[in-house]
Amino acid sequence: MSTDAAHETPPPSDSPAAPPCTLVIFGASGDLTKRLLMPALYNLSAGKLLSEDFAVIGVDHNDNTDEGWCKALSETMQSFTTDHTSEFHPDHIDATAWGFVRDRLHFRHGDFSDSATFRDLAGALTGNVVFYLAVSARFFGPIVEQLGAAGLLKQGDGAFRRVVVEKPFGSDLASAKALNATLLAQGDEGQFFRIDHFLGKETVQSILALRFANGLLEPVWRAEHVAAIEITAAETIGVEERGAFYEPTGALRDMVPNHLFQLLCMVAMEAPDSLAAEAIRDAKSRLLEAIRPVAPGDAVRGQYTAGTELGRAVIGYRAEPNVAEESRTETYVALKLTIDTPRWAGVPFYLRTGKRMTDRATEIAVHFRVPAHSPFPAAPGMMPDILRLRIDPEQGMSLGLNAKRPGPEMRLGRVVATFEYGDFFHETPSVGYETLLYDCMTGDATLFQRADGIEAGWAAVEPLLAAWRDAPVAFYAAGSDGPDEAAALLARDGHAWLPLGDA
Ligand code: BG6
Repeated sequence: MSTDAAHETPPPSDSPAAPPCTLVIFGASGDLTKRLLMPALYNLSAGKLLSEDFAVIGVDHNDNTDEGWCKALSETMQSFTTDHTSEFHPDHIDATAWGFVRDRLHFRHGDFSDSATFRDLAGALTGNVVFYLAVSARFFGPIVEQLGAAGLLKQGDGAFRRVVVEKPFGSDLASAKALNATLLAQGDEGQFFRIDHFLGKETVQSILALRFANGLLEPVWRAEHVAAIEITAAETIGVEERGAFYEPTGALRDMVPNHLFQLLCMVAMEAPDSLAAEAIRDAKSRLLEAIRPVAPGDAVRGQYTAGTELGRAVIGYRAEPNVAEESRTETYVALKLTIDTPRWAGVPFYLRTGKRMTDRATEIAVHFRVPAHSPFPAAPGMMPDILRLRIDPEQGMSLGLNAKRPGPEMRLGRVVATFEYGDFFHETPSVGYETLLYDCMTGDATLFQRADGIEAGWAAVEPLLAAWRDAPVAFYAAGSDGPDEAAALLARDGHAWLPLGDA
């Protein structure tokens, strides 16, 4: 990503402003609201993508006032200019763009389980409303039931009522089904926007363009030419302050049926009939339903121990706050998946995600088959072509190919062709939630998950949730590439993970 672009105020967009709408945020005082939703609204405001009649009502159980909330959020926005570890790090806050949002912020004290909170809201709200559940997952069902009971989800006179549901959406297949049932008892599928922030990443959306708009790639994107696909979401951060959430959750629930499976869908689904939301969501659901439930023998779970991360000594997972001393929660998962479709017959998909790993890298690597008939059968140095789609933090693509080394002999050497988005497109600075909020206000569900897709994702990992309940974890040192068992999982097939951070 071009550094300059990341620091600029976004220019006005070519897209029209979203329709007039009130955004009601449950969890107004929480982390998500200040770290991601407010920067996203600020960027939408700078892009002139919010209606003059846009307003925000923040609801939370602490005591606050409109002034107090505005002041706290304004201070946090300013603090981003000096905090380069945040997802949002502009070099300045544009007074007009932030002023537009700030002048529309209203705070309401309210308990999420008290029907009075919702009766009051019903008295205050008219027209289009998006309810955003920026709260702990245990409140998702109860808030939606209260919204329904207060009549807040009734649509009519051309006005919409929509609900954005954060993750984690359930903690297994049964709880995801129960939550879907709770939601769908209060409104139509089209009113619920189940968010997965990976889909807000430009580089993830771009996979569709790469696959289906390029005559060079589309024909070879199948078992006949592809030997294996690796999907990696490696992080250097540890669990740190999130122990209370992470202990009962673990890396599998936190990352796999949602984020990693969304990447899997983008890289493996069939071509949708069109770019219409339902066409894309149909194609994704079919792919998720084709994942063979993962056998415990095809999966590895790991947990980080103390180590060195980016030159700094860091503690092990069990020593993090709010984590049990003997915790068996995994902070790393590696899986081998089989996709039962003709396109992918016999092609293994290797997925891994972990905290406290060598490097931060979210990427997909497509390993192509070596040519069936090559005049170089025993040529030293011949390697399969590998296309790496880099999603985060680098944004672009690299293609590793074989070429002739200069010299009298025909010897092969590795060359890498790369492209970076920032070299070709002016990137609008974003935290990923801008598109998702805008799409929700305009009613475009393309980037949101449908009930059937969520349930299919959970169904695929269900055997692991059962098998891992009392299973031990493999250990890996913080700052490493994960446990040895994950390397062994691939070695079984004569394959090896690409080293993290390697070009
Ligand atoms: C979140 C997970 O959904 O995604 C976190 O709860 C994880 O544990 C994060 O760190 C990763 O997202 P990103 O965009 O930073 O790669």
